[in-house]
Formats: sequence, structure tokens, C-alpha cells
Amino acid sequence: MTLRTPRLDETLIARLRADLRAADFTVTGVTELLGPLASGALLREQPLPARRVAGASTAPVATLIRLFTLGDPVDVAEVDRALPTLRARGAVALGLVDEEGDGVVARVDVRPYAADERHWWVASDLAEVATGSPVRNDHVLGIGGASTTLAAWTIRRPVGGALDVGTGCGVQALHLGAHTDSIVATDLSERALAFARFNAALNEVDWDTRAGSMLDPVAGQRFDLIVSNPPFVITPRSGEVPLFEYRDGGASGDAIVADLVRSVGEHLEPGGVAQFLGNWEVPRGSTWTERVGSWLEGAGVDAWVVQREVQDPAEYAETWSRDGGHHPGTADFDAMYAAWLDDFASRDVESIGFGVITLQRPVGDREPFVDLMDERGPVPPAMGESVRVGLEARTWLAEHSDDDVLDRAWTATPDVTEERHTRPGAPDPSVIVARQGGGLGRIITLTTVTAAYLSVADGELTPRQAASAIAGILEGDADETEREVVAFVRDAAKDGLLV
Ligand SMILES: C[S@@+](CC[C@H](N)C(=O)[O-])C[C@H]1O[C@@H](n2cnc3c(N)ncnc32)[C@H](O)[C@@H]1O
Repeated sequence: MTLRTPRLDETLIARLRADLRAADFTVTGVTELLGPLASGALLREQPLPARRVAGASTAPVATLIRLFTLGDPVDVAEVDRALPTLRARGAVALGLVDEEGDGVVARVDVRPYAADERHWWVASDLAEVATGSPVRNDHVLGIGGASTTLAAWTIRRPVGGALDVGTGCGVQALHLGAHTDSIVATDLSERALAFARFNAALNEVDWDTRAGSMLDPVAGQRFDLIVSNPPFVITPRSGEVPLFEYRDGGASGDAIVADLVRSVGEHLEPGGVAQFLGNWEVPRGSTWTERVGSWLEGAGVDAWVVQREVQDPAEYAETWSRDGGHHPGTADFDAMYAAWLDDFASRDVESIGFGVITLQRPVGDREPFVDLMDERGPVPPAMGESVRVGLEARTWLAEHSDDDVLDRAWTATPDVTEERHTRPGAPDPSVIVARQGGGLGRIITLTTVTAAYLSVADGELTPRQAASAIAGILEGDADETEREVVAFVRDAAKDGLLV
């Protein structure tokens, strides 16, 4: 199918915006029309229930769902009613639809999107669910799971200059608009940049869009916040797997993310933060922390990396063979699967990690901190505030001595609970843990000493005072007890269990 790139015609885009607004083609408007059953099915890429609901309604929002979300042919007269100022003719001129027989067919996906009480419309290439065929190599991705994961983990404090590397349709840049003064959005793909410019115009925001690979377009420039959902998918370079530009930066192995980690620091202002997603390879006999840790040596940035998923090479090959719209059992799928297995075997890769990387350029000349943690459990949908708190806590801890930690009266946050597990009939618990209700949902195993400290961490007593009293009651060594308490406070405070 022919791919269309939308035209940047401000007059027609303004009409489109007015019509989408009037039709209530918003997240709420669409969900209300479709109802929970059809909306849920659509999320699972099953369009049939939505087709039945939208087909039974004459509301403009239903016509727009049929046209843009489901990719169905729609009569010109119906499109003219749903887009009364743009009309079908204007949608054709914008490159959003093509005329076919008596109707028009969408060539571009236009959908409402909302977060943090902001509402947008996002144009991208039609997804596989609408076209019924595998996506092309120069496909411009809409909003996917990775996009919303990065958006959810991004720190949303107000800052000056921001950069979105590999902006695609511009989804991260839309989010950045809520809390940054200026935005540079880059992409290697000219088609992606055309979509990004169209979306900026449609949503009445202003971005400096630049073409080029990764950080090349911002040589010599620094930012307060850099975000990237980069083309991190590890792809065999043997030719069996096409270079899907939307997910694959063309490098071998995990080099694209490694390079970004190594080089992003020089583009950060002091105190500036970079956040991105990534995959990393773990060769046999090594660990993910060794792998990611090696990227950070000499990078000059604080690092907090949370590994969220681990796959073996076969699981990875299955995920990404399917992603482009190929199906198990076909020759294409099998050829790609085999190529992935060969590629990972050539580097003796045992597993592949996925996670969220947060880097910060330290203010001043202190040693950067590195915290690589494996936390794969469920997290709340909005993590940005937890990441902000965690980064600020880690920074404070890096800038303060154990004496400072011991002299601060910490408080256990209200979402921290304690669990005691006791063997039936035993007088004392065999396991005591502190469980965090929000954020990363950390579970910290407590000792008698740290459990005793946590029970008095109410903002009155300092760890130094508490450790002295606990050592007295338990008849333990005072220095040893203090060391145990300070290590616990550092671990609990970095993720906000103590504040
Ligand atoms: C996974 S998509 C992310 C799109 C969007 N930012 C999001 O969060 O959904 C990766 C983007 O990187 C772009 N890309 C691929 N190779 C690149 C490179 N070498 N330099 C910069 N961008 C690249 C792709 O065109 C694509 O838009």
C-alpha cells in the first residue's frame, strides 16, 4: 500500500483541528462511544467489536473512528459531515486520505491522545491492525507501549531546554511541552520528522525539528532534559531481518544504546537529566550490571538504571519477528527467528535485558554515582514523580557523608508497611520485610537491628541516636550497629521509603 506523508498546510490543519474538536474526537469521546468492551478489544488489536459499534452510529466521532482508527472506507458525504470545515477534499489535500470509488480511505492514522490533563491528536502511519499487512521499513510509529513507558517514567519538573532524540511522530515532545521552555526534536527519518511537524502544527506547539543520527544534530549543544525512546531493538545485520528504521538504528548488537549512554553527558547542563529506554545484551558468564556498568565507565554521569524485563534469545526473536506484522509458521518469520538466534550466538549472548535508564550530569566535580537495580514487579502507571524523588535522594546521598545521614531525623513514608513471617509455633519471626506501597514497590529484608530502627523512624530520632539505643538494648557492638543502620538508611532513602 502507498504510504502518505501528511502535508504541512497550516490553513487546512486549523480546519482539521476545529473539526476534530467539534466532533469530540477525544480520548473521552472515543471511549464513550465505543464503550469498555470494544475499547478493550481494540487495545488487544481486535477491531471487530469497535467496527460493530461505530458502524451502528451516525455520530461524527463514529465516522472518524471508522475512517482513522479502523481504516475502513467511508462515504464522501459522511466524511464531509464529520469534518465540516475541512471536508473530504481537504483531508485528501492534507494527504490523510485517498479517494476510492464513492468513498475515501485513510492513509494516515489520526487519533486522540491524553495525559496529565492535556489533550492532543497524533498522526502516524496506519498500524497493521488497520492495513492488515506487515509494516514497511520506513514506517512511522504511532503511540506504543514503549512510548507510554518512557513518558510515564519521565521526570516532569519544569526545566528550560529539552531534547527528544528519535522523536518519531513526536509523542515525547508533546509531553515535554507541559513542563519545558523549548524543545528540539530529532530523527534520522525525514518521514518521521514530517509527521512530527504536522503533529506540532495540529496541536499548536512549536518544536525545532532536526534531521540526523542520534546526537549529531545537536553537536555542541546542552539541554536540561533529554528523552529518547531510541531505536534500541537489537537486530541481526545479516540481511534476513529488514532494517525497520522505526525501531532499529542500524548498529550491531546493543551499540546504539551503549553509544547514547557514553555520549549523552556532554549534551547535559550541570544537573541536567537524560532518560531513555534500552536493551542490553548479557554474554554468557557475565551479568547485566557488568554490561551496563562498562558503558558508564568514564561517562561522567550519575546513573540509575532499572532493569524491567529479561528475555532469552528465543523470546527476543519471537517478540521482534512478530512486531513488524509477521506471523509464526510463515517462511519470513522462521528466517528472521533463525537469524536472531545466529546473531546472539555469534556474541555468545545468553539473555537480553530491557530497562529504563536515568542519567544526570553532576553539579560540581564529585564522583558520579551508579545504581543498577533489577526491579521487574508492577509499578504505578505514573512513575515520573517517584523517579524525581529517587534521583534527588540519590543525589543528596552522593553529596553527603555517613555522618550527615546519621544526623538527619528520617521518617518512614506512609506507604511503607512491615511484614513478619513466622514459622507456625515459633516465638520469633524468621523473615521481616519492609514493603513499599508505591514507586518501585521495593521489598527490603530487615534484620533485628534495621527493623528496630524502622519502627522508630518518625522524624524525631536520628539514626545515630536510634543506633546507640538499639545497640544498648540488644547488647550489640555500637559501631557495628551504626554501620548497619546507615547502610539501611541509604538503601531505603534512595527509593523514598525514608524521607
Ligand atoms: C522507537 S521509535 C520512538 C518514537 C517516539 N519517540 C516514541 O517515543 O514513540 C524510534 C525512532 O528513532 C528513529 N531513528 C532510527 N534510527 C535513528 C538514528 N540513527 N538516529 C535518530 N533517530 C533514529 C526512528 O525513525 C523512530 O522515529
